[in-house]
Amino acid sequence: MPHHDVIIIGAGAAGLMCAATAVKRGRRVLLLDHAREPGAKILISGGGRCNFTNTGTTADRFLSDNPRFARSALGRYTPADFIALVQRHRVAYHEKTLGQLFCDDSARQIVALLLAEAQGTELRLGCRVTEISQSVGFRVETDQGSFTADRLVLATGGLSIPKMGATGFAHDTARRFGLRLVAPRPALVPLTFDGAALDLMRPLAGVAMDSEVSLGKQSFREASLFTHRGLSGPAILQISSYWQGGPISLNLLPSQNAATLLTELKRTRPKAEVRTVLTDHLPRRLVQALDIPAARLADMRDAALRDLAARLQTWTVTPSGTEGYAKAEVTAGGVDTRDLSSRTMEATNVPGLFVIGEAVDVTGWLGGYNFQWAWASGWCAGQAV
Ligand code: FDA
Repeated sequence: MPHHDVIIIGAGAAGLMCAATAVKRGRRVLLLDHAREPGAKILISGGGRCNFTNTGTTADRFLSDNPRFARSALGRYTPADFIALVQRHRVAYHEKTLGQLFCDDSARQIVALLLAEAQGTELRLGCRVTEISQSVGFRVETDQGSFTADRLVLATGGLSIPKMGATGFAHDTARRFGLRLVAPRPALVPLTFDGAALDLMRPLAGVAMDSEVSLGKQSFREASLFTHRGLSGPAILQISSYWQGGPISLNLLPSQNAATLLTELKRTRPKAEVRTVLTDHLPRRLVQALDIPAARLADMRDAALRDLAARLQTWTVTPSGTEGYAKAEVTAGGVDTRDLSSRTMEATNVPGLFVIGEAVDVTGWLGGYNFQWAWASGWCAGQAV
């Protein structure tokens, strides 16, 4: 039976990085994936250009039941480390916005880079794992044969986009080895609405606007977008990771004080209709859909204008749910970090078992953070296996 130092299950972002790191240390590495192609999510990421890191990466841009857990790995393998790798492979890239780095050409270059770095790894694709057992080391039964190794790395990601082959494999396997789970949930996902809120939103499908979306202390200033089922767009995806029921608030005029704006306009353009002046600042269709009086500014009392301003700056709506794993960019929750070493990702009570990437209860903001976590956790495990 072929024996390896390390078996990594899942040839995605984290698994490839782990393999590359381990193989450079002279480890005999077997990397298995049930998909026919490695790094499928890398290929579709960032609209095909892969937002491969974020230069603003700090641990507070990640959600976890244990917010300090990610610090160690993120500090040991930083965006600068991955950028150096990208530069060494002469992959051209650019910053789009907010520290988000994308390939100029294609996400394929990132997969090619990782495969080149992982050269020497035995890669088995289209390989279905049927059973895992542990005695001295680990034994992995697959439809391509049985393999043994001293160390086993679970890198099969989360539940997002099941039609791409996402499974709960890492969660289930970790649980079988006695590790705890933080209940998984869809994150970076469009929010859905019903009732009157949906009646208002549905006709606006396709309308986008600048916004600041808030939930408790958390807020994101980016675009929001109406959809046939509710709200999407970067600001909504960001807040969705924090949403677990209850209302969210949208500031539809995030770059101004709306009360000051309306009072000033009442002075300078008293004959203009309030709806008309608002279309200079908000999408016309949105102004038409919101319950805004058909009145001239001069005819509106200051208190009514302040009221309207407050409504526009704290538009409060309550989602009925999310679009679920089918549309979620990532899965929040996962293998409980209390059962893992933050330095190596090794299970505290199961020596030799490692969990990395999205399968772990560490979820980044939108904007390259999730790949940075995959690289960092994969690298840390790769140094230790
Ligand atoms: P990943 O999902 O990459 O890899 C898991 C691997 O395990 C896959 O190859 C899968 O086939 C395999 N696998 C699953 N179950 C298995 C089983 N039972 N047996 C064998 N193999 C199995 N992030 C970011 O930072 N920037 C971005 O631009 C984007 N863009 C983006 C777009 C879209 C549409 C999605 C869905 C997601 C993103 N993301 C992103 C998120 C990012 O893709 C994600 O966080 C990482 O790919 C996670 O890396 P992992 O290696 O943990 O899992």
